[in-house]
Amino acid sequence: MGTLHVMDHPLIQHKITMIRKKETGSKEFRELVEEIAMLMAYEITRDFPLEEIEIETPLVKTKSKVIAGKKVAVVPILRAGLGMVDGILNLLPAAKVGHIGLYRDPETKKPVAYYCKLPQGIDRREVLLVDPMLATGGSAVAAIDFLKEQGAKNIKLACLIGAPEGVKVVRDAHPDVDVFLASLDERLNEHCYILPGLGDAGDRLFGTK
Ligand code: PRP
Ligand code: URA
Repeated sequence: MGTLHVMDHPLIQHKITMIRKKETGSKEFRELVEEIAMLMAYEITRDFPLEEIEIETPLVKTKSKVIAGKKVAVVPILRAGLGMVDGILNLLPAAKVGHIGLYRDPETKKPVAYYCKLPQGIDRREVLLVDPMLATGGSAVAAIDFLKEQGAKNIKLACLIGAPEGVKVVRDAHPDVDVFLASLDERLNEHCYILPGLGDAGDRLFGTK
């Protein structure tokens, strides 16, 4: 069974509070989402394997550790997932980026796919699927279904805010996937928005609406 990690780092918690506030405008919202994603990537990569290589300091030859050739694909769920990509690439500059375009139908709340493009060799990569919001879980499950159809085997899901309902849906459908959240919120409202949440992540990132 994959694990559920809710990150309790003070910097992450502080920045989450800032993005929840309704008076936080798009510029600051974008910056904060990027920063939180970077801090989350620091935690998510904690189990990356290391290998020892030989190097020379200005003084002596020595052995020192480097990441053992892990190939990563960062895959945002469009649109809002895009806001997390640069923060993660700051720490993992060699990662490739795929895109999964989904929107939630306002009536049915079910995800509708409109675009998918993944880097080559997705079956050999550690896939980091990112989306700020995990609400009903429909979008995340559809994205993971697609990733697995394309051959992905190692998938981690990173969201800023999750609802218990969505976490359960993802973990029931894909028990092998580790889920990372910056906050596990209370519940969904009658429109399937997360409470207390932060509103519509895509609209707040891109200034739409
Ligand atoms: C939001 C969010 C997730 C989805 C979560 O995207 O970014 O992708 O809703 O909801 P779910 O867990 O109930 O599926 P939205 O559909 O609003 O599209 P957007 O990012 O293009 O605004
Ligand atoms: N999508 C969002 O952007 N926010 C929510 O609270 C739920 C879905």
